[in-house]
Amino acid sequence: MTADGLYRALSARLGDRQLPLYVFESLDSTNTECARRLKQGERRALVLAVTQTAGRGRQGRRFFSPPGAGLYLSLLQPLPGGMSGAAGLTEYAAVCVARVVKQLTGLECGIKWVNDVFCGGRKVCGILCEILPGPGGGLGLIVGIGVNISDSAVPPELRQIVGSLEQPPELAVPLAAELVEALLKFDPDDRSFMQEYRARSILTGRRVGYLVNGQPREGIAEDIDDEGRLIVRLDCGGCDALLSGEVSLQKIEGLR
Ligand code: BTN
Repeated sequence: MTADGLYRALSARLGDRQLPLYVFESLDSTNTECARRLKQGERRALVLAVTQTAGRGRQGRRFFSPPGAGLYLSLLQPLPGGMSGAAGLTEYAAVCVARVVKQLTGLECGIKWVNDVFCGGRKVCGILCEILPGPGGGLGLIVGIGVNISDSAVPPELRQIVGSLEQPPELAVPLAAELVEALLKFDPDDRSFMQEYRARSILTGRRVGYLVNGQPREGIAEDIDDEGRLIVRLDCGGCDALLSGEVSLQKIEGLR
């Protein structure tokens, strides 16, 4: 789909939301574009790109974003109540992706703490939330979502761990529209989505590894609490409650 086609279809679906829509054929990164717009004084924007040349993932990783195979979207909004207004947003966004994918394709997704969405045992979506200062002193919140819609979004060397929804690229339009509708409804005081987040967790009951102050640790992921902390029962006794970071699974085949 071209940027023009995507723009027309999306603006028709989203209507007047007081949300300026920008669709680019090619961008370095939709999150970076939102950051530039925030710096220039824009408070709200929805930015999409048909392809990204420097798509960014968490922990400085790259997000492979070839044309016509994925959805690359970032939503910029003000954060009037300060940082606490974004608490839980990452988890909420992951639940939204899983719900919308189910609604549009019937596919069941799982969530790997914190914000990777899996389908058929492979990662199909990543989420990158960033909070940045705006020029007037307020904060801007950027939610970036990348969904691999068809297999050509996945580089061959990553196909064991990264997958796609295996859907036609045109899914990008309803997927983006429904996701934006859902994201705009985020209420930091309503944690009811955490029940679904937990139910979709692919980690619960599995052995996970991670680093604490550079030291490797292992244990069984037991739960995710309402604050989004991953509770890990350690082999040596006791528990870790991880607030952020990343855990690895030895083997993830057969998971949804
Ligand atoms: C991750 O998997 O670590 C997060 C990936 C987030 C990718 C999306 S694609 C749209 C937006 N623009 C970016 O540069 N990153 C996010």
